[in-house]
Amino acid sequence: MTTFTPLNDKALPQAIKPAKPIHKLRSQLEIDGYGTAAGAEVLGALATIDLKPLLDETQAVRRATEQSGLQRHRFYSTAILYPWNADRLEWMPTATGADGNPASFYHQPAAFNPEEDGDTRYFTPLSENFRSSEILHRLIKVLFASIPRSRLPGVATTPVQVGAHLICMNSHNGQVASVGTPNALHVDGEQFTFIVNILRDNVSGAENVVASRCCAGLHVDDIPADKVLYRTTLTDFLALLGVDDARVAHLVGMLLALLPGSAGCRVALLIDFVQLIQKRTAAAHAPDR
Ligand SMILES: [Fe+2]
Repeated sequence: MTTFTPLNDKALPQAIKPAKPIHKLRSQLEIDGYGTAAGAEVLGALATIDLKPLLDETQAVRRATEQSGLQRHRFYSTAILYPWNADRLEWMPTATGADGNPASFYHQPAAFNPEEDGDTRYFTPLSENFRSSEILHRLIKVLFASIPRSRLPGVATTPVQVGAHLICMNSHNGQVASVGTPNALHVDGEQFTFIVNILRDNVSGAENVVASRCCAGLHVDDIPADKVLYRTTLTDFLALLGVDDARVAHLVGMLLALLPGSAGCRVALLIDFVQLIQKRTAAAHAPDR
């Protein structure tokens, strides 16, 4: 049986007011279903704040990846955002994994990620230091503000689940590639996802591709050229790509070391947003569908 442990983060920076959007990003998302921002634009929107908790967490996930021997490793936590309360964030409790350690679970139906076959995945939660940091709260609020309001029905009174994934892709010896999951064009089922570049060290690849939803399931080399909407390799610190999951599909390409023989590492922070809508039972005499 899964048990849950409430989080007791101290000194959450709740006094932060709702952030202003990155206007160009919001316009692109509204018009095209995807949008980008340069690292300098994101830094400007965050204003002057302490980056250390983000940099420390990045080194922690990199170390954990190297120690695991895996080509990919993730820290993950979820929060609830309250738009009617200055975008207050409250982190959801952690579960206990099979090894007895705290774990955050992530579940996607198999239709979204056949590689995982609908299995629930358990990840190491983000550290309290990072969860309670001003940089993470501020970034989440800037990204939430940058989602077109037309895509968030009832935004003023609907709570939002926020997923924060810090993912390290690592080619340990520089020869075996690190691949994303799923390793194909896909949608995730979360309304909006922002891919924020944090670190690239001795890396070639890890290109982000945005394409028509009808091509979901295709390998990057099999997507018809006229269905590819955008390709980018995020290299600057905090440069980002946002996608409207209902309108486009996306993927991250495989990563290899730029200089073979030494490790190549890329860390990205993915922030996703899902509105929490009331679940109702079926009407008693609903017509067959
Ligand atoms: Fe994805």
